[in-house]
Amino acid sequence: MSTSTIRERLEEIRRQALEALSQSLEPAQVESVRVRVLGRNGELTELIRSLRSLPEHERPVVGQLANQLKRELEERIEALARELRRRRIEQSLAQPALDVTLPGMEFGRGRIHPLTQITGQILEIWTAMGFEVALTPDIEDDFHNFGALNFPPDHPAREMQDTFFLEGGRLLRTHTSNGQIRVMERRRPPLAVVCPGTCYRRDELSVRYSPMFSQLEGFMVDDFGKVTMAHLKGTLTEFLRAFFGPEADVRFRASFFPFTEPSAETDVRCIFCKGAGCRVCKQSGWIEILGCGMIHPNVLRAVGYDPQKHAGFAFGMGLERLALIRLGVEDMRLFFENDLRFLAQF
Ligand code: DAH
Repeated sequence: MSTSTIRERLEEIRRQALEALSQSLEPAQVESVRVRVLGRNGELTELIRSLRSLPEHERPVVGQLANQLKRELEERIEALARELRRRRIEQSLAQPALDVTLPGMEFGRGRIHPLTQITGQILEIWTAMGFEVALTPDIEDDFHNFGALNFPPDHPAREMQDTFFLEGGRLLRTHTSNGQIRVMERRRPPLAVVCPGTCYRRDELSVRYSPMFSQLEGFMVDDFGKVTMAHLKGTLTEFLRAFFGPEADVRFRASFFPFTEPSAETDVRCIFCKGAGCRVCKQSGWIEILGCGMIHPNVLRAVGYDPQKHAGFAFGMGLERLALIRLGVEDMRLFFENDLRFLAQF
């Protein structure tokens, strides 16, 4: 650059800066002019930096001009900022005084979703009984959701209408039983673990079903002979009484699951009609709460355990269902619609 173009450029920076300052009404606008012109990469700063490349005899003259401009702008900016701040204070003092006796604004306070509250209570009961909590993946492969759990290849639960399949042979877990496999394949007995989590099935959202729901899986494994069906019954009865109250009546019915043998379903005497029969228990007097059983030898083999040496029990329960019963509501959709009139009641 020649000295005359530098002079022109300095003049232009000056003109533009003064013009921008004359239009500034707020301290923030003044500040942005300062940054644009005098900031670390500001127009003038860069220009001054570029003077280094001039031949030495030309430097002093333009250097002086540039520094003069810098000082001038700094002073003007400082003065204008001070003036604007002063005006602002004057304006606010001229306003009518603040009435501190006006009622305050009400802030809606957030609360924990009822399902999350109940899940927390359930985990507290299990951890108090010595169970660890493990989180296991929602996105699974066939082995962890089905194969290792002893589902035969043609089992109906594997079919399209139940399972959401993803690319690459992966799927969304249809139950939290994958948690058993995930934990056992990494660790050795003794184990007492619960795995809460979200599950997915191709169901329409309705009063009783949702395509996305929560379960809690639990299991206990130890040396063969140390964990029996009697422990299973005792442990689950203890849990259900902690959750529903010490008087809760519990019964076990024989059932079937591929991953347990023998298998059972566990009911609680209807807490609404005390067993007399009502709409909730469909006149049976009992409400089904969970599935359970002794872990099938094939499941133990699938995770590399020897079923001659180790044995265990497992159980799985639907958390929305437990929450519905506890809260005395009947419609599963209430948990997913986020209607504050419902949620604010808990
Ligand atoms: N996985 C079962 C379901 O999705 C629930 C279940 C039943 C889990 C029995 C268990 C069990 O561990 O032993 O409905």
